[in-house]
Amino acid sequence: MILFSLKPRHKILIGMIRDNWTRLFAAMGCMLVIAATTSATAFLVKPVLDDIFFNKDQTMLTLIPLAVILIYFLRGAATYGQEYLMNYVGEGIIRRLRNMLYNHIQDLDLAFFQKERTGVLMSRITNDVNIIKSMVSTSVTSMLRDAFTIAGLTGVIFYRDWKMAAFAFLILPLAFYPIVEFGRRVRRVSTGCQQAMAEMSSFLHETLSGNKIVKAFGRENDEKERFAKKTLDLFRLEMKGVVANALSSPVMEFLAGIGIAFIIWYGGSRVISGTSTPGTFFSFMAAVLMLYDPVKKLSKVNNKIQQGLAATDRVFDILERESDIQDPPTPVEFRNRPHHVRFENVSLRYDGEETRALKGIDLDAAPGEVLALVGMSGGGKTSLVNLIPRFYDVSEGRILIDQIDIRRASVASLRRQIAIVTQDTILFDHSVRYNIAYGKPNAAEEEVIAAAKAAYAFDFIQHLPRGFDTRIGELGNRLSGGQKQRICIARALLKDAPILILDEATSALDTESEMLVQKALENLMRGRTTFVIAHRLSTISVADRIMVLVDGKVVEEGTHQTLLSRRGEYFKLYQMQFSNDPEADLSVSERETPAAVTSD
Ligand SMILES: Nc1ncnc2c1ncn2[C@@H]1O[C@H](COP(=O)(O)OP(=O)(O)O)[C@@H](O)[C@H]1O
Ligand SMILES: [Mg+2]
Repeated sequence: MILFSLKPRHKILIGMIRDNWTRLFAAMGCMLVIAATTSATAFLVKPVLDDIFFNKDQTMLTLIPLAVILIYFLRGAATYGQEYLMNYVGEGIIRRLRNMLYNHIQDLDLAFFQKERTGVLMSRITNDVNIIKSMVSTSVTSMLRDAFTIAGLTGVIFYRDWKMAAFAFLILPLAFYPIVEFGRRVRRVSTGCQQAMAEMSSFLHETLSGNKIVKAFGRENDEKERFAKKTLDLFRLEMKGVVANALSSPVMEFLAGIGIAFIIWYGGSRVISGTSTPGTFFSFMAAVLMLYDPVKKLSKVNNKIQQGLAATDRVFDILERESDIQDPPTPVEFRNRPHHVRFENVSLRYDGEETRALKGIDLDAAPGEVLALVGMSGGGKTSLVNLIPRFYDVSEGRILIDQIDIRRASVASLRRQIAIVTQDTILFDHSVRYNIAYGKPNAAEEEVIAAAKAAYAFDFIQHLPRGFDTRIGELGNRLSGGQKQRICIARALLKDAPILILDEATSALDTESEMLVQKALENLMRGRTTFVIAHRLSTISVADRIMVLVDGKVVEEGTHQTLLSRRGEYFKLYQMQFSNDPEADLSVSERETPAAVTSD
């Protein structure tokens, strides 16, 4: 009945089941007891009828009720044991699979996260894993308990009247065809259902977390409609599954009815002619009727297995995916000290993109040098700095830190050298203290406070309901963009890494707090190799060198003054972006040029 071939992924799953063999063994014992008690009940019908009712045997009248009590006691105990043990195994497998999935997903490269939607990944860890559990516990239970019960009852049937039994079993193969056919249909529908489910959780994730935008653009009703369409799709698919599932029982029941009709006719005629006793007949009949339940359950096993296999495929598709960013076999460990960073003819083409985002970049940053990257949005600034911690790997060329190709180093030691502040202020739902100490979990209280002070975050943190213990989630959206950004800066300050990447790290700050934070950043940059991307001159002017990126190429390089006097690309940018900055040093004429466009 198991219609599939074993792949490595299935072997892993079976291995997980087998790891629980002691529990499975005990559960199997319970199942044997359950099967035996069911068969014994059917068996006892004959002595009840023939010995008690017809022969009026007094000893049997006391013995049989006692036997029945014992049988049902054993049955109850075994049922409890089997339920407990099988669920223990099933829930244990859920736990292991969830952890495996989460651990694996955490280690996948950033490109994977850009491709997959968060909601879909969440659905893998929550829904699909549950379906696999259901397959494991139902199928193991059914295949053992129900198969044992069927075997026992079949034994009773043949023992009572083998000729009649042989006839009854002739029609059994007929019952198998619908089981197989329904199973196939269920598997197809189940895959569709789970995809629709993943689709829905992804949709929920987006529209609930991005609810401010939904409201701002007045799209509530459209989103309601889109959601209603998704629930309708899911409804239709689920109903298809229900039809396939629900049809399998009536079809089997009808076949069973034919069998029973035959038994009544044939068995009855044998009782009438005196070749059989009423006890034999009813015992036989009881066993046949009791067969119905385990056979029905066993017939659903195929459906469960088909659903489970579809879920297993989705889960293992993720588990078998390898990260593109990995440690080499013998990784070099970077040590914590000022670093020299060098790009040699580096190009980057994102997966599936036609054009290169970076084209032949050469760059050399001495230990402690502050390098500014400027250029219009889309020029490749973020792409360039993302290569340093190996968020992506170069497509051509190489990046050297202290003359070592970063692909030869351990990823963990590479990333320990780098502190990053980005434009997106991502904080976790935990205390403010936890967030600041994210890169150094064992930091002392004084260090956390010092970092917060240096990032000019201390004052507003103190005014939060519970200071450093305030949970970010508890604040909801009460932190302003600038406040979040200052917590992020404190987080980077505390990490105290020799390479610093500031990707529009001050974009959310107002001019006043930027001036304050600017001083903190200047302190921070001292002695560190720094890559700073900013669209405000105050941040750029402290740089030792400025590189202008246009279309993934470095078009100009030099100090602020030399670049201005060259009157090229930087000069243009400067006019467009910086000249309305009150901090801007407008020593170069051209005051009269219209200049108010702020890009980025
Ligand atoms: N993950 C990505 N996948 C595909 N293309 C990307 C990805 N990230 C950025 N790009 C593209 O690379 C180019 C450079 O983007 P980016 O480095 O973000 O520029 P900048 O930071 O200067 O604004 C853009 O054309 C952008 O669309
Ligand atoms: Mg950018």
